[in-house]
Amino acid sequence: MTEKEKNVLEAVFSRRSIRRFKEGRDVEKEKITRLLEAGMAAPSACNLQPWEFIVVTDKDSLEKIRNSTESGKYNAPLAILICANTKNIPWEGNGWMIDCGAAAENMMIAAAAMELGSVWIGSHNEEKIRELFEIPGNIKLMNIVYFGYPEEAKPAGTRYDETAVYHDKYDPSRKRNMRTIDMLSDLSVKPVDL
Ligand SMILES: Cc1cc2nc3c(=O)[nH]c(=O)nc-3n(C[C@H](O)[C@H](O)[C@H](O)COP(=O)(O)O)c2cc1C
Repeated sequence: MTEKEKNVLEAVFSRRSIRRFKEGRDVEKEKITRLLEAGMAAPSACNLQPWEFIVVTDKDSLEKIRNSTESGKYNAPLAILICANTKNIPWEGNGWMIDCGAAAENMMIAAAAMELGSVWIGSHNEEKIRELFEIPGNIKLMNIVYFGYPEEAKPAGTRYDETAVYHDKYDPSRKRNMRTIDMLSDLSVKPVDL
């Protein structure tokens, strides 16, 4: 395996959702720029790059974000709101979400490579966030990603499941052990040998 392969795969497998961040340790400006560069390196449909980002480091604003979500009350020093400006997308639908999702994942992997933790916050109060950050109605809001130096360590790994993989054609007779919502507390990963 080449160094490049190893480095990239290490970042991919070490990205885990981090929900406790070091107090008093901000994310450096250069790293914020790198995160945004990584986001904007993502693929997008017809290369339209509809993403737009609101970078939040102001302590009061972070507190307001925390207060507007049940599942995002974490002490991150940096939140990035991932939005989309769909003005020039000549088709209907939510394809912009795929572009923004690719950008978000790129940013979280880049964060892992820079020793930063991150977590995707999906269940924010959209109305409140729009109001707080003055996001106009024509701009879509995808999600929030928190970043910061981790105060917790989580094992790197994969959730590789060969029953999720079909070769050459789908097999509807296969019995998969699908995860269900009550399995949420099982966050285990399998180590990957690099
Ligand atoms: C669409 C989406 C929404 C999510 N929303 C939240 C959230 O609101 N709060 C949270 O703590 N984690 C959230 N997560 C993180 C998942 O819980 C996490 O990725 C999953 O449990 C797997 O753990 P890992 O990221 O450590 O591999 C979200 C992830 C995705 C992809």
